[in-house]
Amino acid sequence: MCGIVGYLGTRRAYPVLIKGLKRLEYRGYDSAGVALITDRGDLQVYKTKGKVADLEAYASDKDVTGCVGIAHTRWATHGEPNSTNAHPHYSESNNLALIHNGIIENYITLKKQLEEHGVKFRSTTDTEVLVQLIEYMQKSQNVDLLTAVRLSLQRVIGAYAIAILDKSNPGQIIAARKSSPLVVGIGEDEFFLGSDASPIIEYTDKVIYLNDGDIAVIRRNEELEIVDFNNIPLEHEIKTVDLKLGQIEKGGFPHFMLKEIFEQPECLKDCMRGRINVDQTHVKLSAIIDYKDRLLAARRFIIVACGTSWHAGLIGKQLIESICGIPVEVEYASEFRYSNPVITNEDVVIAISQSGETADTLAAIQLAKQKGAFIYGICNAVGSSIARATDTGSYIHVGPEIGVASTKAFTGQVTVLTMLALALAKEKKVISSNQYSMMVNELNAIPDKMEEVLKANDHIRDISRIFTYAHNFLYLGRGFNYPVALEGALKLKEISYIHAEGYPAAEMKHGPIALIDDEMPVVVIATQNVLYDKLMSNIQEIKARRGRVIAIVTEGDTSVKALADEYIELPRTLECLEPLLATIPLQMLAYHIAICKGKDVDQPRNLAKSVTVE
Ligand code: F6R
Repeated sequence: MCGIVGYLGTRRAYPVLIKGLKRLEYRGYDSAGVALITDRGDLQVYKTKGKVADLEAYASDKDVTGCVGIAHTRWATHGEPNSTNAHPHYSESNNLALIHNGIIENYITLKKQLEEHGVKFRSTTDTEVLVQLIEYMQKSQNVDLLTAVRLSLQRVIGAYAIAILDKSNPGQIIAARKSSPLVVGIGEDEFFLGSDASPIIEYTDKVIYLNDGDIAVIRRNEELEIVDFNNIPLEHEIKTVDLKLGQIEKGGFPHFMLKEIFEQPECLKDCMRGRINVDQTHVKLSAIIDYKDRLLAARRFIIVACGTSWHAGLIGKQLIESICGIPVEVEYASEFRYSNPVITNEDVVIAISQSGETADTLAAIQLAKQKGAFIYGICNAVGSSIARATDTGSYIHVGPEIGVASTKAFTGQVTVLTMLALALAKEKKVISSNQYSMMVNELNAIPDKMEEVLKANDHIRDISRIFTYAHNFLYLGRGFNYPVALEGALKLKEISYIHAEGYPAAEMKHGPIALIDDEMPVVVIATQNVLYDKLMSNIQEIKARRGRVIAIVTEGDTSVKALADEYIELPRTLECLEPLLATIPLQMLAYHIAICKGKDVDQPRNLAKSVTVE
């Protein structure tokens, strides 16, 4: 959840670190800090509550010289977001400075033990316990920093990615990871550290993704060394990152979220490229080719995911069940991991995660693996922990998603799930060639239809101005569009802070209808599919109670339009593909309402992009 950057080389470290923090700010943004070994040999820590821009302002009159440093942008877990709790944390003597992403679960016990030895603490964080423990080890055992780090980490229970500087050894950074991502960038006479590759790619495309239990020792003028907790040297593979700078910049849009909404047609083309061949009417997913027998033998699929990815999973369930006839369960990863689920080696677990780092999803995978299930991952972040923990999988290839509210990852996930369902159905021979080619062709046409939907942006901005007053919203949909209603409500609440609930439309009369009055906007996905008449009745029920309806309709519709207060048209498509179109106006509606309310859409309060803690 927090962002980590490090630099050791021949450039000035401070500008590299600040730029890197800005690229990682999506991971957390309640406080930020930097530690530098300055030209005078001092170990200086500057940190402040607020964003990276606040840190820059704070450090503007300070000594920011030096060619080695570490920096951090925080999403608070232990201790409120203030300057004292911000990272880096000094050790008691101020000789060490440490940054940390994750949670030290046994920090209270460790803190008590250290206090008994007279160590004084300045903050209320779990992180400070770690730096104090390392210094205590260094002094009490009379060992070097690497040994002290190893001994300390052996006593720590929890999740971490850390980086540490030592004033007495200015040519060195030590970094380690367990359950929190950390990447080392290798340049010419220089090294970089990042929670992901985005702060690194401007300087080098050569990276090493650290594994759990790795300790990286970065030393000036030396080869990178990676050891385990017992100091055994480990092999490491240098990978080339295929990420362009333009992909992580706003490209003329005011916000990443709007850029990512508008990128969706291109993203879906990238997602389908090489996988869909319309001429031969063919869907090809290498994971299905490689693991055909294992997947076809599945007794059932269990989808595990969180948040938006879980909503994509709900659509995946309907796709796989309706096209392949294989039973599918969809579980919140956080519930699944503690529910003692009945899983056998005949089950296939599909783990969906944009970041590939979500702690609950990772834990759900580990549990399912122990119980013998085969794991199929659907991730966006290449080389992420989840991608590496799965037996096979398919990347969604939509490029980095930086806005905290997930948009293009959702449509990418649904697209991969659609291709998965089609490829499985074909292999199982349970789909007619007519239905198969119709679906493949229509899926292939979705990016162009998305372009049509995006033209409604100005219209949706006008609608959003009317509804900015609202304190509550209801989103209704049925069938394939029920998860779209959930997703629309989630988007609105996370960036505008308006309370919103998604419901299957027919459930409205079992309770939520009591909420409807002339102040209540209800977004209804009422496209012309088999449930159209039912949705018409729901809209009439809302209007009878003077509720205000924003309807998502199929182009050419007249009946719903006549009833609704506002409407947004979608091109016609197959019912099972409607979510790919219907979700876009809901993303835009949430975006514009949040903008009208003056909210920070890319970095909404209390949230972070990648939830690497439980
Ligand atoms: C909502 C959102 C979150 C994530 C959830 C899972 O806009 O972004 O609900 O979908 O935290 O994250 P991933 O997909 O990275 O596992």
